[in-house]
Amino acid sequence: MTQAHRYLMCRPDHFTVSYEINPWMNSRVPTDTALAVKQWEWLRDVYLDLGHTVELIDPVPGLPDMVYAANGATVVDGVVYGARFTVAQRASEAAVYLDWFARRGFAVHDAVHRNEGEGDLLTVGERILAGTGFRTEVAAHREAAALWGREVVTLELVDPRFYHLDTAVIVLEGSDGDPGDRGRGRPGPGQIAYYPGAFSPASVDLLAALFPDAVLATEADATVLGLNGVSDGTHVVLSPRATRLAGQLTERGYTPIAVDTSELLLGGGGAKCCTLEIRPAR
Ligand code: ARG
Repeated sequence: MTQAHRYLMCRPDHFTVSYEINPWMNSRVPTDTALAVKQWEWLRDVYLDLGHTVELIDPVPGLPDMVYAANGATVVDGVVYGARFTVAQRASEAAVYLDWFARRGFAVHDAVHRNEGEGDLLTVGERILAGTGFRTEVAAHREAAALWGREVVTLELVDPRFYHLDTAVIVLEGSDGDPGDRGRGRPGPGQIAYYPGAFSPASVDLLAALFPDAVLATEADATVLGLNGVSDGTHVVLSPRATRLAGQLTERGYTPIAVDTSELLLGGGGAKCCTLEIRPAR
């Protein structure tokens, strides 16, 4: 039995690439907003078909990256840690997302330190894996640890193509009720797939120690943002271009579901970037 997850998404009605803030973006390459919307709707429909809940936040004109909802905040134990963007072009998204949660009665914490939401703060079992190096500062990792009273593990990203942690790590089992909790009704240690080449040597050692059985992705799969996927512990939604990774996941007993988000890749994001998970209070 797969536990239902609750996701927040933002329809890419205003999607385009008008500035360049990561190596994937090229403002001279035209974008097709209608196609981006179609691919996003496909992703949303896959979640709904799997029995998950999808909440929507209204897109704001002039904020083309709002579709990457994962960067808007991080929600753990029902407590919302707001984003504080490093990149000026996205700065005003933080208040829009925080307001969405505040209006719905969530406990919200306006961040003091720079962090780009769940893009760099991934919940895996009881722990939070936290990326730094490009967008999120280590002080934010400490701020998050204090807010949730959870262990936060700092991981250093070193390759600009993998500028957010969720471009280099996919959480395969992370939440309460995922198969990894082994029926205990609370998270197990969780499981991940990752691309070691995205991390500093010390962080690679740390990941190997924490997740000795993790799935190791190839560079070919990582460079199509194959690790930017979403798992409910059973199904793993990911790019159809990540063919080897899909095979590795199948071998481990997961069911990969290919969703083509090629148009959204022009902004440097995939399925996970478009999906902010709302984790309930425990
Ligand atoms: N253009 C966006 C940026 O560079 C893409 C964000 C992708 N989101 C993610 N969670 N990795 O900020």
